[in-house]
Amino acid sequence: MRAASDNSNATPPRAGLAQIAGYLIGPAFLAFAVYLFMSSRHVDLPSAPTPVVTPAQITIAPPRTALGDPPIVTIGGYAQRCNACHKLFKTRDHPDRPRVQHLNITLRHGLNNRCLNCHDRENRERLTLRNGDTVIFPEVAMLCAQCHGPVYRDWTRGAHGKTMGAWSPEVGQQRKLICTECHDPHSPAYPPYVPLPGPHTLRLGSHSAHDVHEEIRRSRNALLHWSSERAASTAPATGDKTNPAHKPKERR
Ligand code: HEC
Ligand code: HEC
Ligand code: HEC
Ligand code: HEC
Repeated sequence: MRAASDNSNATPPRAGLAQIAGYLIGPAFLAFAVYLFMSSRHVDLPSAPTPVVTPAQITIAPPRTALGDPPIVTIGGYAQRCNACHKLFKTRDHPDRPRVQHLNITLRHGLNNRCLNCHDRENRERLTLRNGDTVIFPEVAMLCAQCHGPVYRDWTRGAHGKTMGAWSPEVGQQRKLICTECHDPHSPAYPPYVPLPGPHTLRLGSHSAHDVHEEIRRSRNALLHWSSERAASTAPATGDKTNPAHKPKERR
């Protein structure tokens, strides 16, 4: 009973005040927003251009294209089989003489520095094994296995190289990349990967300054950046302690 009578006494005038206040809140905030907008000044935050990553840089394709069977090379503008030339002449037997053909090939394979360690003397379209057997080019792993036994064993078990397709041969088709799809047999050291650009965060600043890390640390913090800019613009010309990288840019 008491609560009811309290309500009937207090509510009518308060409701009027609250209503007026309610109508004022909107315009008041709007006016404040306009004030903030008008009074703020332009701060030039450095933002680096977005680094470009080309599709070629993130392809999952093998790094090289290996020769098939029969191997075809383009020499003097003609695509031809090895034996188109090699059946016309015999290999001469002094390996250290200067070459007149295949000058694009430089051997950087350690002690393995004879062409005929790998290429068959009689049939240039095959590779040679230690015991005199030969294999076609797509079976190059058998050749490499002659000298790189442990790596070959790892490769057959999937610990070296790369297997495409299904994880298990029972589930679906598998394709193991062959050695020459990653290694150039003449210069087999795997070239180091060039790292892709890091993530593009806002305000990383320009990387041209000497102390890049200090610059990044400071310019990531918009407030620090702004205050140092302000300090620079108000400080006397001498005794200016601000990082030269943060000298204010041209004002707009
Ligand atoms: C346009 C003709 C031509 C074609 C095609 C050609 N070769 Fe040769 N190749 C030559 C000649 C000429 C020499 C000899 C170079 C010398 O005596 O200095 C040679 C030399 C070589 C040698 C060095 C050992 C030797 O016989 O003196 C190897 C190994 C070789 N070729 C491999 C190949 C392979 C593998 C292919 C195919 C993928 C191929 N060549 C295709 C012309 C050719
Ligand atoms: C470690 C073994 C090995 C040695 C040593 C070697 N080759 Fe090869 N060579 C290969 C293999 C494997 C291929 C196939 C490459 C591919 O599939 O991309 C090849 C490809 C070639 C080709 C055709 C492709 C091209 O790059 O033009 C020529 C020509 C050739 N070799 C010549 C030579 C000559 C000349 C020498 C000696 C200076 C030599 N090779 C030494 C293994 C060898
Ligand atoms: C006749 C023996 C022989 C054959 C065949 C052979 N290699 Fe080698 N390989 C060597 C030797 C020797 C080294 C040098 C080791 C060193 O200098 O430490 C080497 C080094 C390498 C290296 C390391 C290179 C580096 O600098 O890190 C790779 C990768 C390699 N071989 C891949 C291959 C591939 C792929 C094949 C098959 C096309 C192959 N090798 C065939 C003997 C051979
Ligand atoms: C999918 C690509 C790929 C394939 C396929 C591949 N390799 Fe490699 N190989 C590599 C990479 C990557 C390295 C490491 C290079 C490094 O650490 O600098 C390497 C390193 C090597 C080395 C030197 C280091 C070591 O462990 O002795 C040898 C030798 C080698 N590979 C031989 C082979 C042979 C032989 C085959 C085929 C049976 C093969 N590779 C297939 C990518 C490949």
